[in-house]
Amino acid sequence: MGRIKLQLLSLLVFLLWTTSLTEGSDVTQTDLLWEKQGDNATMSCTHTKGAQYYQMYWYRQLPGETMELIVYTTTGIKNHDFGESSKEKFSATKPDAESGTFTVKDLQPGDKGLYFCAGLS
Ligand SMILES: *[C@@H]1O[C@H](CO)[C@@H](O)[C@H](O)[C@H]1NC(C)=O
Repeated sequence: MGRIKLQLLSLLVFLLWTTSLTEGSDVTQTDLLWEKQGDNATMSCTHTKGAQYYQMYWYRQLPGETMELIVYTTTGIKNHDFGESSKEKFSATKPDAESGTFTVKDLQPGDKGLYFCAGLS
């Protein structure tokens, strides 16, 4: 499970994410990003667990709320499953089994929270 922390500082959105998939220390990535309010923030998740881990889930947890699934992505498929989530607000790519990206568009104070990725076989 990867962990992404999104905070708002003044007019800047501060993004810190640490990514790692469950059951393994073979996945770790820490990044720090500064984004302006209104900008788009793209975070990525990678692993070296092999091609059988071709699915990736992206979640977010807003302060005081439970973790919610935003999108379920599958390698080789363009139309990822956003369920009830807004496709205007979020986008995701899954170019290959070992990597994926997630974008939050038009960053607002309400986007502050923790973002997670999880890979599954
Ligand atoms: C954010 O992404 C959207 C859709 O891809 C694009 O239209 C918009 O120009 C981007 N905004 C910024 C600030 O880059």
